[in-house]
Amino acid sequence: MRLQMQFPIILAVATSAQIYDVSNSLTSLSGTLNTTDPTVIGNHYNYWTLTQNKTVYDLTRSDRLPVTSPKLIPMLGYRKNALIEPNRTAFITIDMQNFFLHPQLSPHASLGRAAVGPTLNLIDAFRENGMKVLWVNWGIDAYDLVTMPPSFLEGFSDNNQMNTSFCTEMGHLTQSNGNVVDLGKKLCRGSWNARPWGALDPAMVEGLAEGTDLYFNKNRLSGLWGAQTPLGLYLQESGITTLFFGGVNSDQCVWGNLIDAYFKGFDTVYVEDCAATVSPWYAEEMVRYNADSDGFLANSTYIVEALKQQKT
Ligand SMILES: *[C@@H]1O[C@H](CO)[C@@H](O)[C@H](O)[C@H]1NC(C)=O
Ligand SMILES: *[C@@H]1O[C@H](CO)[C@@H](O)[C@H](O)[C@H]1NC(C)=O
Ligand SMILES: *[C@@H]1O[C@H](CO)[C@@H](O)[C@H](O)[C@H]1NC(C)=O
Ligand SMILES: *[C@@H]1O[C@H](CO)[C@@H](O)[C@H](O)[C@H]1NC(C)=O
Ligand SMILES: *[C@@H]1O[C@H](CO)[C@@H](O)[C@H](O)[C@H]1NC(C)=O
Repeated sequence: MRLQMQFPIILAVATSAQIYDVSNSLTSLSGTLNTTDPTVIGNHYNYWTLTQNKTVYDLTRSDRLPVTSPKLIPMLGYRKNALIEPNRTAFITIDMQNFFLHPQLSPHASLGRAAVGPTLNLIDAFRENGMKVLWVNWGIDAYDLVTMPPSFLEGFSDNNQMNTSFCTEMGHLTQSNGNVVDLGKKLCRGSWNARPWGALDPAMVEGLAEGTDLYFNKNRLSGLWGAQTPLGLYLQESGITTLFFGGVNSDQCVWGNLIDAYFKGFDTVYVEDCAATVSPWYAEEMVRYNADSDGFLANSTYIVEALKQQKT
């Protein structure tokens, strides 16, 4: 009887020791990494080192992972430079679609259209350095439609009803050259309005054919929301750690992707001139302010220049 009483008490002590004494798990998380080194931030699996008088953030995780030819990228924000491993870096361009950028569909998106040139330049530079280009766009299918929340359906409706929201026919458009285009279903997978705008379309087609680029449909603002998505699985399985972001709208879909990536432990770089919004100026200010504190701010001009100078 007394033994039976004591047993649960001993068990409780042993259990709580396991819960509260985390020294063993910290040791296994630190792996071979010298976590008493003051330049190390993180653990064996995910860490930065802050080197050269705290001016360079080394994002290569080179203690654990192989490096090819790391590139030093100058940044605009309070973190001044990042050293990146090209094999684990990708550029994600979001929603640069006809629906959001075509002058007849989105007349106010002049800033978004101005981001196309810098985006194409950055894409070329990334491809030349073996860094993946990921096109992440709205591409809704029948299942997405069934499970779509009312806030989204109403937000993308022209008349507060479902009959003008996602995947409803948008009609036709006569282009400046006289060609009539069937716009297809609104942001529905495979429709014309959901394709990349202007020169971005052939750029994507070319990149996909070459294998330098990949395309991912998304069914919310973010392509990384929830437990897992095709984009998230790709990033995880290919070991990509460092993500540069551009696209439209910067405070909505770009921000949604960036903040999810940040939450999931990726390094995030907001490329200011490859992103834009039709929202008020303070929305863009919010994105830049927080992208700076959550990761890095950059300009495509300086990235392209730095990559050119360090071409191997
Ligand atoms: C770990 O880093 C500390 C601080 O820089 C240094 O004193 C120590 O020698 C390092 N240990 C190893 C095993 O390199
Ligand atoms: C770091 O900064 C100190 C003080 O400003 C300077 O004396 C030193 O040379 C710097 N070291 C490097 C590696 O830049
Ligand atoms: C770079 O990435 C490619 C494709 O993922 C892979 O086959 C190759 O082994 C990687 N190289 C290094 C040094 O990690
Ligand atoms: C949507 O439904 C309403 C009736 O509820 C109708 O008046 C309207 O024409 C419909 N719009 C479209 C684009 O089908
Ligand atoms: C960023 O690059 C653009 C060109 O893409 C240039 O016009 C702009 O001045 C640059 N911004 C900064 C802050 O350097």
